[in-house]
Amino acid sequence: MTVRVLFVCLGNICRSPMAEGVFQHVVQEAGLSDQITVDSAGTGSWHVGEQPHRGTRGVLRKHGIQYEHRARQITRQDFASFDYILTMDNSNLTNVKRMMPDNSDAEVRPFLDYAEDAGTKEVPDPYYDGRFEEVYDLVSQAAEGLLAHIRDEHGL
Ligand code: 4NP
Repeated sequence: MTVRVLFVCLGNICRSPMAEGVFQHVVQEAGLSDQITVDSAGTGSWHVGEQPHRGTRGVLRKHGIQYEHRARQITRQDFASFDYILTMDNSNLTNVKRMMPDNSDAEVRPFLDYAEDAGTKEVPDPYYDGRFEEVYDLVSQAAEGLLAHIRDEHGL
């Protein structure tokens, strides 16, 4: 059995790729890459095909995380292909819930639900203000919490 996790933001070039790269890294460190698969997507289409923002690439590199991705837009099929669809801010959450087919069993919620000590439910958008390190800190906390949750929930 595989647990499938999709991270979603607006452009799929800053926050959700950061979340995907960091979570993929903690999953690898835990030796669970065969049991947990990870992807990311954006609600918008403007950046489809682009690699992550240089701020995201720089922070991941700085923290020793190897990561390759090309931006894509979320599709209705994703609601059948993923068990967890985790959003970065309230606007993403609203947009994703609006698209969600009635028969989807996916767990759709804010990624920061898994970062109890973060003090916020929204990952700030670094696209305009460059706060990529702050995004990394929040995403790292939530990645640890999500892994613990999945291990517990799925007996991994
Ligand atoms: P992201 O950041 O949703 O974290 O990938 C953004 C990327 C692009 C834009 C906005 C936010 N944009 O307006 O193009």
